[in-house]
Amino acid sequence: MKAPEAVGGAPVAPPGRLPPRLNRVAKRLGLSRSRRKRLAGRLRRMTRPAWLGTAHRRPRPFSDYCGKDRGTPIDRVYIERFLLDHRDAIQGRVLEVQGSEYTERFGHAVETSDVLDVDPDNERATIVGDLGAPASMPERVFDCFVLTQTLQYVFDPGAAAAAAHRVLRPGGVLLATVPAVSKMDAKTPELDCWRFTTVSCRRLFEDAFGAGRVEVAVYGNALSAAAFLLGMAAEDLRERDIIQVDERFPVIIAVRAVRTAD
Ligand SMILES: C[S@@+](CC[C@H](N)C(=O)[O-])C[C@H]1O[C@@H](n2cnc3c(N)ncnc32)[C@H](O)[C@@H]1O
Repeated sequence: MKAPEAVGGAPVAPPGRLPPRLNRVAKRLGLSRSRRKRLAGRLRRMTRPAWLGTAHRRPRPFSDYCGKDRGTPIDRVYIERFLLDHRDAIQGRVLEVQGSEYTERFGHAVETSDVLDVDPDNERATIVGDLGAPASMPERVFDCFVLTQTLQYVFDPGAAAAAAHRVLRPGGVLLATVPAVSKMDAKTPELDCWRFTTVSCRRLFEDAFGAGRVEVAVYGNALSAAAFLLGMAAEDLRERDIIQVDERFPVIIAVRAVRTAD
């Protein structure tokens, strides 16, 4: 694979890694892998300052990894804020896609934690199923389904909303986030199908859960949306500029939907 290049064209270390010579010194000094990773992020931000004034004549982003190599991707700040605000719902039998990081981080009184993936090679998956094929999913099992940043990969998102409804017990809660703007997925661009709006989210989930059972929220504003597309990290902006919401410029859209207690 070709080494990533800095915006100006100079080669840079891959995300999360120090340049080789510095890495050797850091190892000699006994710095742990996680400290070296943090150091690499800081170094990247220091040596590749990002401000919009440097972007207007550079069509390439500051990062090819949504800002992950610079620090925290801006969409993750929003996703985590949403989950924190709804952490009371992450309890009992919880399902998450790809891994269980958010269940572990935000859950409480979690009885069982399951991981769903369509990819049978995902060793963390306890359920291999396709959100695009609701019948492949278990029925009425979970108290909470943490479905972050996945719907864009399902060609039939209406089927995925129906699958999310199907896996929940009566009274169970879906906490979903979807991208409204973002670069194409770097690893599997051929599977990256959709970006969403508040209108499409409301319609998709009300069709599955029923009117009045769905709350839709916007996270983002013009600056954070532009910065996210340009590959800036949350650390490149001021916190107050990230958290301000302008409904016209969503970065992510978050959905809380509750299955009727029938
Ligand atoms: C980018 S991850 C998103 C989940 C992760 N928890 C996050 O917040 O980033 C996308 C995951 O969704 C899985 N996936 C894609 N299409 C799917 C489908 N139709 N059904 C179930 N999982 C799917 C992928 O294999 C991958 O593990």
